[in-house]
Amino acid sequence: MADALLELQGVSRAYRSAAGEVVVLKEVSLRIDAGEFIAIIGPSGSGKSTLMNILGCLDRPTEGSYRVDGAATEQMSPDQLARLRREHFGFIFQRYNLMENLSATENVALPAVYAGVEADARTARARRLLETLGLGERTTNRPSQLSGGQQQRVSIARSLMNGGAIVLADEPTGALDHASGQQVMAELKRLHGQGHTVILVTHDAAIAAHASRVIEIADGRVVADRHERGQAVRQHADAPGRTPTVAAERRARIDAMHEATRMAIRSMLAHRLRTLLTMLGIIIG
Ligand SMILES: Nc1ncnc2c1ncn2[C@@H]1O[C@H](COP(=O)(O)OP(=O)(O)O)[C@@H](O)[C@H]1O
Ligand SMILES: [Mg+2]
Repeated sequence: MADALLELQGVSRAYRSAAGEVVVLKEVSLRIDAGEFIAIIGPSGSGKSTLMNILGCLDRPTEGSYRVDGAATEQMSPDQLARLRREHFGFIFQRYNLMENLSATENVALPAVYAGVEADARTARARRLLETLGLGERTTNRPSQLSGGQQQRVSIARSLMNGGAIVLADEPTGALDHASGQQVMAELKRLHGQGHTVILVTHDAAIAAHASRVIEIADGRVVADRHERGQAVRQHADAPGRTPTVAAERRARIDAMHEATRMAIRSMLAHRLRTLLTMLGIIIG
């Protein structure tokens, strides 16, 4: 059998607290293949976000192993993990996590800074992505000038900036009205149709019904894993050129430093330090 795209074996995640160790994810084993559309459901506090963060290499298991595209993540350095993240994953959050002081285009282009894409190419790709998400008229708008649904579509565009072969969406419709939520789901379905692997967290059964596989979590354990209908599409997403040259990597590092500094200043001025740290955690690792 071919390697799974994502494979968790006996994964646990514990937190130390004043009261002692709390295990919030308990011996989770999962195999996820390319092209699946998965909903992770479960009550609040059951460990869904913890699982998503491990899947996206934003967090690491305290026990067990996690392989991405056949590569074991346990021994990877923070730099290697950051590279793995930007080459495989796109992230969508309930609260969009856009930078208030950047335009829609700049927000979308951000993840490419570290991937070694030149500024003009970044901007062009970001604009194209915004157009495909119906935001061609909004490219210069700041997040505060956009509705919640539009902001979430900007964040979907951002998740695709480096290819986003695997899209991880944690409660992507949680802050949206029904109509905007439906629009976001339509976009995620469209991405799945194009070959992206989509994994979304929700506690809304109607949202989960869009997925072809539903994994149910309760108290840190997988308690059900159902294939809802049909076979998963097995094809790879069309990622943009992903093997940066040495020159591109060097340029990326310089660009990223420059951009990060510029954004850090602008962001701190705008009191968005927390968002900035989250973003930098994702993009730069
Ligand atoms: N950094 C942390 N430190 C301690 N406990 C945490 C931390 N993050 C999450 N938890 C706990 O882990 C459990 C699962 O959290 P989470 O994965 O966010 O659940 P869900 O996304 O399903 O609502 C919760 O009880 C939460 O309080
Ligand atoms: Mg959560």
